[in-house]
Amino acid sequence: MEASVADNRKGLLTADLVPSRPRWAAWPALVVALGLLLAGTAAAGAQDAAVLANARCSGCHGEGGNNVDSFFPRLAGQQKDYIISRLKGFADVKRVDLHAQFFMTTTAMRLSQAQVESLAAYYAKVPVASPPPGDSALSKRGEVIYSRPTANANGKPCIACHGENALGAGAVPRLAGQHADYLERQLALFKVGLHRNDVAHANVKNLIADDIVALAAYLEHL
Ligand code: HEC
Ligand code: HEC
Repeated sequence: MEASVADNRKGLLTADLVPSRPRWAAWPALVVALGLLLAGTAAAGAQDAAVLANARCSGCHGEGGNNVDSFFPRLAGQQKDYIISRLKGFADVKRVDLHAQFFMTTTAMRLSQAQVESLAAYYAKVPVASPPPGDSALSKRGEVIYSRPTANANGKPCIACHGENALGAGAVPRLAGQHADYLERQLALFKVGLHRNDVAHANVKNLIADDIVALAAYLEHL
């Protein structure tokens, strides 16, 4: 797709510069072509991000970040600032766990700041595919734990930071619609201190395995 955008632009310009035509005849068309190019810059920015995402990210994260393989997190509808901060974290090898490093570090290191920002803006706007229906009893239990005050821990409840419908905000990630397997893995990593970040997630440390499964089931089907 990248090639076709570039080809179209090249086509526009070269078609107007064919040497067999008188030189003066090319000028008005060239001015028009230039105007079209400038007008198209904003739209092209969004299109370029989609092209980049397809080329470098979709293989694992699925088209538009709506993948079905639960091994890889969904990116569709994720908070822009969170994506930016995660990509920075992946690029800093001292901060990430080995699993994340294996999959994401090289990819993240190859992105320029401008590419990071445009990819984050792109994924934040992709409509989120609705998940299949889940086990409602388990989800209900997860919902209770999600909003539970600091009953079994010294941290805040999840809802205090991740929000009422788990949509996240700014650097706090959206959890709604994320694959349960992935969420369970991240919660397990928090517990052992392997997904490192500035938030201690002290509240997660005391969650038992059953709580984690219920939370993940609730969040996946939100
Ligand atoms: C080879 C597979 C692969 C490719 C290609 C890939 N990713 Fe990832 N990505 C992963 C895996 C696996 C994880 C989960 C890592 C973990 O467990 O923390 C991940 C995690 C992420 C996260 C964190 C998501 C979250 O909810 O915390 C972001 C953001 C991300 N990738 C963005 C990208 C972008 C943008 C691209 C393209 C430039 C990309 N990835 C390409 C495999 C991949
Ligand atoms: C004090 C605010 C706060 C509270 C309370 C909190 N979180 Fe978080 N959570 C965050 C932030 C900030 C991040 C992003 C960390 C990073 O940059 O990697 C995060 C990340 C996560 C992630 C990783 C998401 C991803 O896409 O990789 C999961 C899962 C998660 N939180 C679940 C929970 C659950 C479940 C609870 C309640 C038991 C909870 N959090 C409570 C702030 C909070």
